[in-house]
Amino acid sequence: MSGKYTIILAAGKGTRMKSKLYKVLHPVCGKPMVDHVLTEVEKTAPDEVVTVVGHGAEAVEETLGERSAYVVQETQLGTGHAVLQAEPLLGDKDGMTLIANGDTPLLTAATFEKLFAYHKDKGAAATILTAKAPDPTGYGRIIRSEIGTVQKIVEQKDATAKEAEVDEVNTGVYCFDNQALFKALHQVTNDNAQGEYYLTDVIEILKKAGAIVAAYKMSDFDESMGVNDRVALAAATKVMQARINRQHMQNGVTLIDPVATYIDRDVQIGADTVIEPGVTLKGHTVIGSDCVIGAHSALVNATLEDHVTVTSSTIEDSIMRAGSDIGPNSHLRPQSDIGEGAHLGNFVEIKKATIGARTKVGHLTYVGDATLGTDINVGCGVVFVNYDGVNKWHTNVGDHSFIGSNANLIGPVEISDHSFVAAGSTITDDVPFHAMGIARARQSNKADFWDRTALATDSEWNQ
Ligand code: UD1
Ligand code: MG
Repeated sequence: MSGKYTIILAAGKGTRMKSKLYKVLHPVCGKPMVDHVLTEVEKTAPDEVVTVVGHGAEAVEETLGERSAYVVQETQLGTGHAVLQAEPLLGDKDGMTLIANGDTPLLTAATFEKLFAYHKDKGAAATILTAKAPDPTGYGRIIRSEIGTVQKIVEQKDATAKEAEVDEVNTGVYCFDNQALFKALHQVTNDNAQGEYYLTDVIEILKKAGAIVAAYKMSDFDESMGVNDRVALAAATKVMQARINRQHMQNGVTLIDPVATYIDRDVQIGADTVIEPGVTLKGHTVIGSDCVIGAHSALVNATLEDHVTVTSSTIEDSIMRAGSDIGPNSHLRPQSDIGEGAHLGNFVEIKKATIGARTKVGHLTYVGDATLGTDINVGCGVVFVNYDGVNKWHTNVGDHSFIGSNANLIGPVEISDHSFVAAGSTITDDVPFHAMGIARARQSNKADFWDRTALATDSEWNQ
């Protein structure tokens, strides 16, 4: 039976990245490059995907998980050698094999499909995906005969001056007849400038053996961009970002300034939501419809239901339910759950806390390790004192209660429903239903205090 296979090359260290992180794991819009490649490959429904790993093998396998099979290339002797490692898994199969590099994150499934169609149409043993590069430096050049048929691929470092002038480049994506590929790979030598076994040499080998070699030239060079250094990483990120942002706009999201809006690949946003400039939306953030995300807000794995307003605030691993709002300059730390219609104002920090529906925490307040019921009013400058230097303690505040300004609630403590805490209190004991907890020194006024001070005789103060 004729199958459809994919080999992803991801064993290289990526020396030019100058990084502790393996090249193919560098993220582009929140997703490792090799994950982008695999995600697009998966859309073409291959029978089997084999990823060649080497440097950082464990990290790559952990990132992609069971979505791929793996073969290890112990030493990185070149792309041809890398593909050969897949022979034990794929060598005896009949069918078509797509090869893609793990460092080309912008390629799309639609392009792979066009390559397959062209490959079949030409009855080719090998079809190279090529592109016209504005600057071909660093890429393998496609060398064609006078009548336009592909002869070979020449790497930058092996190219003559004339060959280096060619601006049609190898994108690193190919479609092969599987049997022909492995047969030719055994004939590849490392007799070249880099002393590597080049996959690209397979083209000339097949051609010389009389096989049909084709090249499908794609129109969009950007899509084929290979990332070998940080400059290319930034360029690829820009292209990916533009693509992601365009998709959201087409789905009905308003981006005030798409160039200055940074949205990760897996973020979801509902229609009629407005995103202001300088916003970053990361990870698995999900935003409902009719929300407003104000300038310079940063959301990481946040879940926002519909009609939520965020003004210049940071939200991490937390949920804001319908109609709630936050900001400016507030911070939801992980595991916070903000109820429907709740209001969090300026300079409010919430950590691992549940805030009930319609509860208001307006100003300069810290709520950590707490459960607040519904319809509560928390005054200005309230501190939930949750940490004694060793342990974290939880505090509960019941529905319809009122916490006066500048109160300290020293956890663990229970403030019952419909109760009050007087402003300025330091609360260490539970406050029962309908009671008011007051814990502050009583005021006394010292009469005529002024006369006892130096100010009494200071002419400037006594005019
Ligand atoms: C390669 C192509 C070049 C093409 C370019 C497109 C070859 C010889 N050259 O060059 O024609 O224009 O991609 O981006 O194939 N890898 C391994 N094992 C190895 C070496 C590399 O798995 O021993 C992997 C790398 O992790 C990477 C991919 O293969 O994902 C490509 O390797 P890289 O060193 O980036 O090749 P380029 O110089 O970019
Ligand atoms: Mg490369």
